[in-house]
Formats: sequence, C-alpha cells, structure tokens
Amino acid sequence: MYFQARLEALTQQLLPWAPLWSRSILQGWPGSGAAWPEDWLAYARSLDEAGERQLDQGALAGVPPPSLAALLGALQELTALPWHEGLHALTVAQTQGLSAKKTHELERVLALLAPRTRFIHQAVDIGGGMGHLARLCARTFGWTFHSIDRDAALQDKGRRWLTKTPSPGGDTLCFIQASVEDGIQPGIDPLFSGLDRASIGLHTCGPLALTQIRKSQGAGFVLNIGCCYDKLEAPRDYPVSRFGGAHPLPFTPHALALTTRGRHHKTEAEFTRMKRVYAWRFAFDLLTRQRFPERGFVRAGDAPRALYDGYFAVYARDRLERLGLEPGMTDAELEAFEVSVRTETRDLLLCHLLRDRFARALEVVLVLDRAILLEELGFQVELLQLFDPRLSPRNLAIIASRSA
Ligand SMILES: C[S@@+](CC[C@H](N)C(=O)[O-])C[C@H]1O[C@@H](n2cnc3c(N)ncnc32)[C@H](O)[C@@H]1O
Repeated sequence: MYFQARLEALTQQLLPWAPLWSRSILQGWPGSGAAWPEDWLAYARSLDEAGERQLDQGALAGVPPPSLAALLGALQELTALPWHEGLHALTVAQTQGLSAKKTHELERVLALLAPRTRFIHQAVDIGGGMGHLARLCARTFGWTFHSIDRDAALQDKGRRWLTKTPSPGGDTLCFIQASVEDGIQPGIDPLFSGLDRASIGLHTCGPLALTQIRKSQGAGFVLNIGCCYDKLEAPRDYPVSRFGGAHPLPFTPHALALTTRGRHHKTEAEFTRMKRVYAWRFAFDLLTRQRFPERGFVRAGDAPRALYDGYFAVYARDRLERLGLEPGMTDAELEAFEVSVRTETRDLLLCHLLRDRFARALEVVLVLDRAILLEELGFQVELLQLFDPRLSPRNLAIIASRSA
C-alpha cells in the first residue's frame, strides 16, 4: 500500500506539469520556454550565481513563487526514501584494482544481502560484467553463483581476476555468456527459480531490469538496481505494474532521458563547468537556427572537454566543421554572436535548472512501478537508497523476498 500511495501522490504532483518535463527545452525552443509559468521564470531570472546553484540543488533562495515552492516541497517529501545503513568492509586485497565507486557499491550490496539471504544457497547475477559481486558473494556467503553477461571480453577479464586471487576453498562461481531476453531461455531460466535462489541485478541497464524481474518470479529473493532509464521505451517498459497502469504518466523519450539526470549536489567547480558547457551548446544552437534554418534542430554532440574552456568561436568552428557547415563568419563575429544571445542562453539555462527538478521524482516513479509489480507478483518488497549519490547516483535498490 505504501508504494501505491506514493506512486499515486507523485503522479498527481507530476501530471499537471507534464508539458514541462516531457519535452526537450532546446529542441522545442522558444516555444518550450514560453510554456514555463511567467512567475517561475521571473524568479529564476532574479537569482544570482549562488541562487542558481541553490536551485540546481533543489533549494529556493529568496522569495520563490508559491506554486514552485509547493511543488518542490511535495516532490522532495515524496522522493525521500529510507536509507540502507551499514557496509561490509572489504579487505585491501579484495578491493585491489576496483574503483572507489565499485568498492562503495559492493560493500553496501554485501551488507544489504547478509541479513536478508540466510535461506539462499544459489544466486544468479544478471548483467554481472566481470563478476566482482558474484566472486565476493560466493566467497562471503558460500553460495553457488552464476554470473551472466553477454559481454565475453568482460567475463574473460573476470576469469583472470579469479585466477589471480584464488580462494583457499576453491570458487563456486561460474560465468555464463548469454544475452538474457524476455521469453523462454531453457539454458538459463532455471537459474532464476527456487526459494533458495537469489536473483541479483546491479545496475541493470534500461529494460534488462524488467527482464530480470519477469525471469525471477520463482526466486526466493530479488535485488534489482536499475540504471540507464533512457533505454526504456514507453509504453513497453512503463507502466509495468497493474497499479501503475491505472495511474500512468506520459513518459516520452525526453522524460526518460531526464530521469538519468537526477544528480548529486555539484561542487562549485562542477556547476561552473556545467554552465559553460550549456552556454556554448545553447549559443551554438541559436547560431545554427539563425544561419541554417533549413537544417532544423542540429545536434552539436559532445565536444572534447578542452573546447568548453576556450573561446566560443573555436568551439563553434569545431562543431560546424564536424557537421560540414560553413557559417561565413569571422571569429570576432562568432564571439560577438555569443555575447548578443546571452540573455536568451541564460533563459535556456534557467529552464533547464527548473526542469531538472523533476528528474528524481520521475526516476522514483519508474522504480515504484517496478516495486509494485513485484508486490503484485507476491513478493514482500523494500525500496531503499543504497549508494551515496555523489559516487553512484542511480542508488535506488528494490529488494523483494518471498519469505522475509
Ligand atoms: C551497467 S553494466 C553493470 C555491470 C555490473 N553489474 C556492475 O555493476 O559492474 C550492465 C551490464 O549488463 C550487460 N548486459 C546488458 N544487457 C544484457 C543482456 N540482455 N543480457 C546479458 N547481459 C547484458 C552489459 O554487458 C553490462 O556488462
């Protein structure tokens, strides 16, 4: 009931603002800008650099419009989820060669699993990559573990890792190279079934999370942490629960992409950098609209990092050349163009800062829908924040158990 009430309340908050979060600001400009409430924009324009940064962190400096303050307050309340506390400290030898992010994740996943999986003897990891989690679970809990991934090269690296760090008792870990798909797969489906079996998906990209859930209906325990929601397709992949189907939101590809932008609080340097990247991209967009209107929306693509540190003219030339476009402008004219559109590029930035406020709420909607699907399949379900979002922003863990 808790998840259903959350989903319903979030849907009620988000639905009226769907025209703002479901469309791309840049691609729909200037119409997309005109869609924002005038008092929200006027407020955002009144912010200084510190106020902009606060807005980026979800806080409202000064005197915000009541409707904006009410919405952000409600979204913050409805996206607040309990945290998993505790970690299973890994030894120096166990973490050798692992990134800080991976170590952080593994220590928390192991701590989460320990008290919840006493009845588990076998486990399968879907999209297990190099099998770090599988290796550590097998050695920590003594499980027989199958790590499935479609990437043979990653699994080869994982096998080499195993031989470099042999376990005294031998390993009960097996790599299976396979693409896990919806539908019957006699070779792997039995690995997901049985009350003493755990099904684990750590950062299952896009629809892979749903494949895991569907395959794991007969498992005793399921842990799923999703990522790459921009790889989902609505309505194929959302809503997936019956309850979600009765309370749908109009997810578009742009809205799905937004869910992957729910980010930790940026440092001052990161925020300044983001502003520069946006400034160059937005000015470039306005330039191509003016010079090449027949091309419609032109994708600038990601430029090499250094190009955002220098002059706009250098950045713009690089992007134009890549697209085979010649603006017929000198560098001085390109620079002057960027200066001339600064009011407009700031408005574009402010609309993005406002739109980003919907990101986490939309992500939580997708995850709640999955949690409710598992409840509808008869599991007892927890939804916890597991990772520090500064290290691993896709940090929502769905934990489902048949015998909790
Ligand atoms: C984001 S990575 C996560 C890897 C690992 N679980 C971790 O946390 O480091 C997703 C992995 O899923 C694998 N993958 C994606 N789709 C798959 C599929 N349909 N079947 C099997 N593996 C898949 C990819 O090759 C990749 O290794």
